[in-house]
Amino acid sequence: MSMKSVSFSFHLLLLLLLVMHGDGSGTEETADDLISKGNSVLRLHSMDHDRQTEDDGTTVQSRVDPLSRMDHMDLSVMVFFTLKDLKVGNSLPIYFRKKDSSKSPRFLPRQEADSIAFSLKELPNLLRLFSLSRDSPQAKAMEATLRECESQAIKGETKFCATSLESMLEFASSIFGSNTRFKTLATEHLTKSSTLFQNYTVLTTPEEIPAPMMVACHTVPYPYAILYCHSQVTENRVFKVSLDGENGDKVTAVAVCHKDTTQWNRNHVSFRVLGIEPGTPGVCHFFPADNFVLVPDP
Ligand SMILES: *[C@@H]1O[C@H](CO)[C@@H](O)[C@H](O)[C@H]1NC(C)=O
Repeated sequence: MSMKSVSFSFHLLLLLLLVMHGDGSGTEETADDLISKGNSVLRLHSMDHDRQTEDDGTTVQSRVDPLSRMDHMDLSVMVFFTLKDLKVGNSLPIYFRKKDSSKSPRFLPRQEADSIAFSLKELPNLLRLFSLSRDSPQAKAMEATLRECESQAIKGETKFCATSLESMLEFASSIFGSNTRFKTLATEHLTKSSTLFQNYTVLTTPEEIPAPMMVACHTVPYPYAILYCHSQVTENRVFKVSLDGENGDKVTAVAVCHKDTTQWNRNHVSFRVLGIEPGTPGVCHFFPADNFVLVPDP
């Protein structure tokens, strides 16, 4: 690695630490915090993976049934919109999960992360290591995360669960090419409020960020910070959208639009939320503040 790329990576690392940890006033999270955060992350996250088609032969047993999610009126699915909704003055109902740095598990330094097994078959040992009982909700969340991390990627997708920021950067480099600089995009809340779900007006013409390639990373529940990152070969468009909430909240939101949704499961929750035919092109979703997207930085 050249000096230049080392210092660049270091810069990106700092940026990411800011994105992920906010003001850095982190404290130990409680088990309940981990679970409540974890469940919502997994639920939202698994939506991305509902597109498993029945005919590709892979299993879907670890995935949550989108129908049952809808039945429970889970507001966290209110992140979808279509490309044609992205117009100045348009109003969109959006749920933004708030980043709570005090409740986010911390990243381990790479050496430490690499010294801990990260695999489903090691779960009994891991539960001992973290002093968790087998039947605890935390154990279930860990199992779900490990299962999701070990499940096969869908066609055209590359995925990786990073146990440290350094390994996330390595994955990104492997996608973009080692000589390509890349930058982080994340949703920013410019105002502080506790409102999670409300109507937002699109304030200005959304800025499209050139993204010939992209890697999206999501936090997933685990005793320490894990980033579930994935990249698709299908065409995606990335937007920065200035939003104005009904209560005065201001958000600069990052959204991704998927041109091709034909590989998605017919029951993908987005089709239901939007009331559109399965496979309709141009399905978009906003990212919560604790996720991020990496794109080349030309
Ligand atoms: C958003 O606005 C619509 C139309 O005015 C209204 O029916 C709906 O209840 C609002 N949603 C929220 C979350 O406030």
